[in-house]
Amino acid sequence: MQSKFILTQPMAQIGTDLSLAIDLLQKDELVAIPTETVYGLAGNALSQDAVMKIFQVKKRPFFDPLILHTSSLEKINNLVVNIPDQLKTLAHKYMPGPLTILLEKTDLVPDLITAGSDKVAIRIPVHPLTQKLLARLDFPLAAPSANPFGYISPTEPSHVQKQLGEQIRYILDGGQCEVGLESTIIECRNNEIWVLRKGGVAVEDLGHEVKVELHSSSNPKAPGMLKSHYAPKVPVLIGPQIEDLDKYNFERIGVLKFQEASPIFPVENQLILSKSGNLQEAARNLFAHLRELDEMDLDLIITEYVPDHGLGRAINDKLKRAAACE
Ligand code: TXA
Ligand code: MG
Repeated sequence: MQSKFILTQPMAQIGTDLSLAIDLLQKDELVAIPTETVYGLAGNALSQDAVMKIFQVKKRPFFDPLILHTSSLEKINNLVVNIPDQLKTLAHKYMPGPLTILLEKTDLVPDLITAGSDKVAIRIPVHPLTQKLLARLDFPLAAPSANPFGYISPTEPSHVQKQLGEQIRYILDGGQCEVGLESTIIECRNNEIWVLRKGGVAVEDLGHEVKVELHSSSNPKAPGMLKSHYAPKVPVLIGPQIEDLDKYNFERIGVLKFQEASPIFPVENQLILSKSGNLQEAARNLFAHLRELDEMDLDLIITEYVPDHGLGRAINDKLKRAAACE
């Protein structure tokens, strides 16, 4: 009798072994790392091979630049120059933390990282395990969110395992991400601070003077800010009227609500972002809940905006992109 062999790639190991993570990164392998925002798909930012692997595994277009992660700004003083005073002040306040700043790069930063731009995005995560990892490395890590390009960002090791587990060896387990939204990205232009992506630091907390210029495919300054991003596979509608739902079977509609379930849909299809109306809790749950609904084999996900202040502004921006109605 002929035996059948099914060749499958082993899944990634999940654990907290920093030495193994360092060993893999030094060999230009990729490791998924926890941060307070979302999990990142990390590789040596100064190695062409490792950076190429990031783009391949994520199926990310080369025009979309990567953020460089380090444990302190001092550690990369040969990679960036001319840090504007306004950014220094905000960096002191929010780094380490969920803030990314764009700085003029030196020639040591590969063009592949910045998609040809003369500015590189710098982030210092506050997550203790990744802080330790970065402190022990003598190179910075390039790390986009550890999801296939365009899909919802991962906030737990299992999210990374499901989507990229066959393509990477190790997922460093730092538990559930505390913030749950990607970092806020800012840059300084003509002495003004501009927000390019709303995220884990609320826009209001950056000062009264900041300007917001979110980017999309039609305005690709931060090219990852495409209109349809963070998108589940199932279509998403924000705040539909009941008549918009005529053609749907209500049993097959998933509902993502801010505080309270809706009486008109099956309760088992509904997820709540924060029963107490806490925007931090809502941010922490947003991506995990969207994923869970996406995996429930439904025809439609309906959702609603949350209050549009603090982290609520970033949550609403992600909802718009998930529904591609920017
Ligand atoms: O919270 C985060 O920032 C997470 C964690 C893993 O650190 N990372 C993350 O990376 O969200 P990614 O690649 O998924 O999103 C990075 C965004 C993209 O929209 C990209 O276009 C923008 O940052 N970006 C990166 N470098 C840039 C640059 N030099 N100029 C303009 N935009 C840049
Ligand atoms: Mg991303």
